[in-house]
Amino acid sequence: MASKKPAYKRVLLKLSGEALAGDSGYGIDLETLNKIARDIAEVYKLDIEIGIVIGGGNIFRGVAASANGMDRASSDYMGMLATCINAVALQEALEKVNVVTRVQSAISMAEIAEPYIRRKAIRHLEKKRIVIFAAGTGNPYFTTDTAAALRAMEINADIIFKATKVDGIYNKDPEKFKDAKKIDHLKYMDVLKKQLKVMDSTAISLCMDNKLPILTFNLKVSGNIRKAVLGEKIGTLVED
Ligand code: GTP
Repeated sequence: MASKKPAYKRVLLKLSGEALAGDSGYGIDLETLNKIARDIAEVYKLDIEIGIVIGGGNIFRGVAASANGMDRASSDYMGMLATCINAVALQEALEKVNVVTRVQSAISMAEIAEPYIRRKAIRHLEKKRIVIFAAGTGNPYFTTDTAAALRAMEINADIIFKATKVDGIYNKDPEKFKDAKKIDHLKYMDVLKKQLKVMDSTAISLCMDNKLPILTFNLKVSGNIRKAVLGEKIGTLVED
């Protein structure tokens, strides 16, 4: 059987911080981290270019802290620092499985990571290094989903892979309704109007205005990133 060709040349993978926590829900579970790294390594071999934006919710959730009375900007900065911890952890795990990476941070911390420089990030990608973008957009009030949309646009990615813990978007809550059906395709406007939980509205609007498709799928299923890269029908695709 002829090996399948990737459907994309350059992708932006958005990982939530929680994805690294495993079942404990907090911090970094090394077994989970290494499993994700192996999944990414498998895709890396397909010779596509990969940028990764990682969240920080496994360590600190800025939005939740501000809801509990903390100043929003301060709690968002703490959340951005949390993404840096995850980025360094992911870099370590990826390099252990022979994936060449560079971490670029939107907040300068030269001793730990390179600063975010768009042209340099693109050069790294061209040299087949995975670039992990840390510290969100570097600004409070913006989520890491919005950072993913922004970086995807900046590096001219073909698509955003939004890896989550569910198989895609359903017409009703699959945990409550047995007859809930997964939706294969959605329009940006439907996501916005129905407030579907794909990404926050700023991120969706940015993708809509720039016609960047988003594929959301379950990261917990081994091999799903590979299927997504090969253009197999998984998850829910959001586009025009
Ligand atoms: P090319 O020159 O394009 O091949 O890229 P390169 O990343 O191999 O070269 P560079 O000399 O920029 O980086 C060498 C190593 O140092 C890489 O692991 C970079 O991630 C790291 N590095 C580069 N700049 C910084 C920085 O400002 N801070 C930190 N902490 N590391 C850096």
